[in-house]
Amino acid sequence: MSHSFLKGKKILLGITGSIAAYKAAFFTRLLIKSGAEVKIVMTTSAKDFITPLTLSTLSKSPILSDVSTDEGWNNHVEIGLWADAMIIAPATANTLAKLANGLCDNMVSATYLSARCKVFVAPAMDVDMWHHPSTQNNINQLISYGNKIIPVGVGELASGLSGEGRMAEPEDIVTYLSDFFAQQQDFNGQEILVTAGPTFESMDPVRFIGNHSSGKMGVCIAEELAQRGAKVHLVLGPSQLQVSHPNISLKRIRSAEDMFQASVAVFPNCDAAIMAAAVADYRPKEISDVKIKKKEGDLFIELERTKDIAANLGQSKKNGQILVGFALETNNELENAQRKLKKKNFDFIVLNSLKDKGAGFKLDTNKITIVRKDNIIRNFELKSKRDVAHDIANELLDIQK
Ligand code: CTP
Repeated sequence: MSHSFLKGKKILLGITGSIAAYKAAFFTRLLIKSGAEVKIVMTTSAKDFITPLTLSTLSKSPILSDVSTDEGWNNHVEIGLWADAMIIAPATANTLAKLANGLCDNMVSATYLSARCKVFVAPAMDVDMWHHPSTQNNINQLISYGNKIIPVGVGELASGLSGEGRMAEPEDIVTYLSDFFAQQQDFNGQEILVTAGPTFESMDPVRFIGNHSSGKMGVCIAEELAQRGAKVHLVLGPSQLQVSHPNISLKRIRSAEDMFQASVAVFPNCDAAIMAAAVADYRPKEISDVKIKKKEGDLFIELERTKDIAANLGQSKKNGQILVGFALETNNELENAQRKLKKKNFDFIVLNSLKDKGAGFKLDTNKITIVRKDNIIRNFELKSKRDVAHDIANELLDIQK
């Protein structure tokens, strides 16, 4: 089978100490044959199952296994950032536990923590270890971080037992990776505006009215679209998040007015806009040039409406342009979302309810319902924000068909 989507891709392979490590040689060969660049990190115990010499010969690259050597550090940060995708195969029960809990006592776990790319994990262990609740908890934890678990196979195991726990075959793992890169490019040629984060509305040089949005959901959407080939204009309110992807042109802004200006400037050339920002609806009518001094008694600040960016784009939208809104609700969720969908001329709206545990500001997870203008409603499970971004991108493609 041809895996042309792997051509030129930088694949970081992490190998840990399981008998299935011998399959890493076949796997590396398949990756190289598909045109991928391969770098390998391995644990000390993995070397008991397969030699670094075999792997360095097949991958055409030195193998890294110690975090430090007599010559100095092996830079796990650099190698983590180098990769387009990381695959840990085989991943032992011990390694899964480390990854799920952020332990980094070897080159594989340290590199995993530094990797910004998608990470695939191919577990390998005995059937009872696989079914143990602690292993399953670790798997769920890893999924919640946005990692992809490659399903284990069923069959004869090294222990002599039979059942689930075999590492997936190298051909199947290569197909997984190839499908991932194939799907990545499905936004090729599109230009998309994403708004994200809070806005800060100044009262005076030191104070502002803001909100608790972290920008995480919008940044995940921008990164997802960029990874899948779109040119993304990310207009981001005050947020601690770092964003770097060659397909993202980032504009950091502060107020609703700044966000409005930046958004209307790029929207005419865009195929779609996703309005994930938590924009202030009101701002102080007057901004004092000097710090407002406290006085006896209460202070009253007059607030005026900000411009509704989404509604404005909804009005100016041309045929074929797709507009996606967000609604964060605490009550009458569906009714409110449907009202906003119509009012702002969205093609679909992403509804989060603060009633749902795990949904909302600052968290790494979200639980959404998508409401489309053709009245199709889709409910999704609680997922990592990266996986939610994936679902939203898929919905956008679907509505563009
Ligand atoms: N939005 C926007 N510009 C604004 C306000 C909101 O672009 N000035 C966008 C948000 O990014 C989001 C959607 O509109 O996609 C949310 O709309 P809405 O919830 O109506 O905002 P609120 O004004 O908070 O509505 P309400 O007070 O009725 O809950």
